[in-house]
Amino acid sequence: MKNPIILLIVLLCYAFASFGQEIPSKEYSSNYEQVMKRTQWWREARFGMFIHFGAYAVPARGEWVKSNENQTTETYQKYVDEFNPRDFNAKAWAKTAKSAGMKYAVLTAKHHDGFCMFDSKLTDYKLSKNFGGRDLVREFLDAFREEGLKVGLYYSLIDWHHPDYPNVGNHPQRDDKDYGKRTFNWDNYLKYMHGQVEELVKNYGKLDIMWFDYSFDNYSGEKWGATELVSMIRKYQPDIILDNRLTVNEGTSSKQRILKTVGDFESPEQGIPDAPLIDKYNNPLPWETCLTLNGGWGYTEQDHNWKSPELIIQTLVNCVSKNGNLLLNVGPNSRGIIPQESVDILIEVGKWMAMNGESVYGCGASNLLKPDWGRYTQKGNTIYAHWMNPNLGQLNAKGIDGNQVRNIYLLKSGGELSFQKSWWGNNEPGNLFITVGSSPQKPVEYDTVVKIEMK
Ligand code: GLC
Repeated sequence: MKNPIILLIVLLCYAFASFGQEIPSKEYSSNYEQVMKRTQWWREARFGMFIHFGAYAVPARGEWVKSNENQTTETYQKYVDEFNPRDFNAKAWAKTAKSAGMKYAVLTAKHHDGFCMFDSKLTDYKLSKNFGGRDLVREFLDAFREEGLKVGLYYSLIDWHHPDYPNVGNHPQRDDKDYGKRTFNWDNYLKYMHGQVEELVKNYGKLDIMWFDYSFDNYSGEKWGATELVSMIRKYQPDIILDNRLTVNEGTSSKQRILKTVGDFESPEQGIPDAPLIDKYNNPLPWETCLTLNGGWGYTEQDHNWKSPELIIQTLVNCVSKNGNLLLNVGPNSRGIIPQESVDILIEVGKWMAMNGESVYGCGASNLLKPDWGRYTQKGNTIYAHWMNPNLGQLNAKGIDGNQVRNIYLLKSGGELSFQKSWWGNNEPGNLFITVGSSPQKPVEYDTVVKIEMK
């Protein structure tokens, strides 16, 4: 550039544009790129099954029963002795997940109660002892892989059973002064925990996801030996995806969010963020809401407060419309059976997914404003209008330029829908009125998807 004045103007413009904007470091950007690369299949999959299964299915008051009732290892033992999921059939579980349209599943290998669902060589506190030597985790992995689903394991960092895990946080003996006087050898616990994770990532074939749970107070990050743990995991499973709970969660509204090297996705629980999650440099962040079908994760006998298939479908679309995933939970009973109520909901969801999955898989946020009648998802040049709420015959897809529309169809049938740019004196530019019929009923239960192909 020869003219110094032009050069100066260009520099000033550049300085102005980047004012107040923080620039990520090279390391940050390269970690970000790797995370986006390895989470790509997962961000396209969008819908997974969470399975909370353990000895807590026997008391049937949820997986926190030991903590909630301040039970000791001795009083809890009767559940462990009783636990024998004789009707467990991994193939049946896998079929249920598959027919719901789920693409991956995550099973609790060890929950906070410390009881292992896998045949760990590092403890006798495990199901295989009671279960004719069967390794339930291995059976789960084999069956789900066979159905073409990706597989993950949940592993609790917290352990309410191990003698070297102190009575901190929500430990069942948190108020027991005598218990607190014992000596806890933290390094010993870490060795055990790292050792078990190594067993899982080394001996069970390709794992797609490792779901750690959870950090609190200063029990976070390096307290768990996170850097070492993650590098060990990546040695055996270079492509594995990790949730973000090896460090304390910064919540879903933080504006200062950053991607860490010890966690690939955010894990909001029982709630959906208001908008796509972004880091402080405005990059979209991978996230997954985990959600129960009734009120509990582990099997809860008295909880009949089931969510409707409609709410589940609309929740899934809500997540996708903000670039997120949904990990939907089932809590099998102590015999190993997924409650019929859950199966029935999943069958309904599956029927909708069979017709409309195209508007979920591989889709993400569109930059159109959320309409009154529902939500949008988008994949490339195709926008999916999800009509969920009562509406009077015309859907206004505001913000879409009618001149750029190639065609509009009803997704479930491929039938063409007509549209116009103005309606009843509403001639402002930027309106697109799609005629969805004179009937006040939606043609598809729960969510009618209108596919808008743009040029
Ligand atoms: C929580 C709970 C736990 C459940 C998990 C699922 O952290 O402690 O019981 O497994 O969330 O996200």
